[in-house]
Amino acid sequence: MEILFENMPCITDEEVSKALCFSKEQVVRNLPVFTDKFQKAYSEGKFYQPVENDDWTNGFWTGEIWLSYEYAKENGSEDAKSLKAAGEVQVEDFLHRIDNKIMVDHHDMGFLYSPSCVAAYKLTGNQKAREAAIKAADQLISRYHPVGEFIQAWGPMNAPENYRLIIDCLLNLPLLYWASEETGDSKYKEIAEKHIHTAVNNVVRKDYSTWHTFFFDMETGAPDHGATCQGYRDGSAWARGQAWGVYGCALAYKYTGRKEYIDLFRHVTQYYLEHLPKDMVPFWDLEFTDGDDQPRDSSSASIAACGMLEMIKYMDEKEAAVYEKYARQFMKSLYDSYAVKDPKESNGLVLHSTYSNHSPYNTCNHCGVDECNSWGDYFYMEALTRLHKDWKLYW
Ligand code: GLY
Repeated sequence: MEILFENMPCITDEEVSKALCFSKEQVVRNLPVFTDKFQKAYSEGKFYQPVENDDWTNGFWTGEIWLSYEYAKENGSEDAKSLKAAGEVQVEDFLHRIDNKIMVDHHDMGFLYSPSCVAAYKLTGNQKAREAAIKAADQLISRYHPVGEFIQAWGPMNAPENYRLIIDCLLNLPLLYWASEETGDSKYKEIAEKHIHTAVNNVVRKDYSTWHTFFFDMETGAPDHGATCQGYRDGSAWARGQAWGVYGCALAYKYTGRKEYIDLFRHVTQYYLEHLPKDMVPFWDLEFTDGDDQPRDSSSASIAACGMLEMIKYMDEKEAAVYEKYARQFMKSLYDSYAVKDPKESNGLVLHSTYSNHSPYNTCNHCGVDECNSWGDYFYMEALTRLHKDWKLYW
C-alpha cells in the first residue's frame, strides 16, 4: 500500500476535545428551535431552518443530540438533562412518523432510525425508540427484491426507472442487523447480507471507484447498468458515494466477518485517497481537484474518517496505525479550515459541504451546495467521538 499525505498534520487529543466541546455547545444553543422541529437537510446562507420530520436526513440532527448527550454526561455537565429530554421528544416524533408512514417509501430507514432511535435505545433503554426502530426495519425489508437480491432505493416498487440500488444503502443495513439481534428473527440480517453481496459486486468498478446507483433487469434480476444521480457524470466517482463505500465496507466486515470486505475496504479507500486535493477534503466529485473551480464536499471527509476508525478495530496494529493517521489528518484539516468556530457565523458545525450539485450529465436537483449539511455535521461529531473514546456505535 502506498502511503499518501505523509506530512499532513494530525488532530491532537486536545483539539478533539475542544472540537467536541464546541459542537456540544452549538447543539445545546440550537435546542430551543430544534426540539419540536428538525434541522433542514442543508443550511441556507450557513444557517439551518427548522422543518418537519419528513426528509431522509432528520435522524442526523437527533444523532447530534445523542452524541452531545454522551459528551455532556461524561463531563458531568448540566446540559445532559436538556439534551436527553430533547432527544426523547424527537424519538416520539420518529415513532409517530413510522406509525403514520410519513415519507417512508424509500430505503433510508437506517439513516433515519439508527442515529435517532437505535441510539436512544442503546443509551437510555427507551422502549418507544426500540419499537420505532423495529418498525423502521420492517419498512426497510419491505423494499427487498428477491429477484435481484437487493433493497430498492427510491420510488414506487417495481417501476423500471426505480429498479436499482444505491451505494449509500450500505449505511442503512446496520438497522437490520440490530433488529435481528433485538428480535431474535434472522430475516432482517439475511436480507442485509444478500443486499451487501449484490451491492458490492456491482457498484464497485474494476479500478475500485464506485457507481452511485446500479440498475437490474426486472425479469431476471441480472445486473444491468450503473448510473450516477448526484455525481458529476456516469463513470466519475461521486465523492460522497465513494465515502459511503469506505464506511460501508467497514460496516459490511463488522457485521458479516467476511474477510474479502477488508480487502475491498483497502482498495476503495486507496482510490479515494489517491483522488483527494492537497488538504484532503474532496471536491464534490473525485473528478475534480486543486485548481478546479468546483465546490467541496466536506461531509465526505468525515464519513471516510468514520469508516477508517471503524475498520482499524479489525486490523493489525501496523495497518491500523496507517488508517488512524489518515483519519486524524482528515479531522485536522476539517477542524482547522472547515469547522464553524463562531455561532454568529453559522448554526451548523462544518461548512463547505455539497448535497446535490446539478451538472449537465447528472439527474439530481441543485440544492445545498457549499453549505453545512446535517449528515456532514453528524459524521464530524461521530468521528471526533470515535477519536475521543471507545464509542459504542449507533449503527
Ligand atoms: N444518501 C443521499 C446523499 O448522500 O446525498
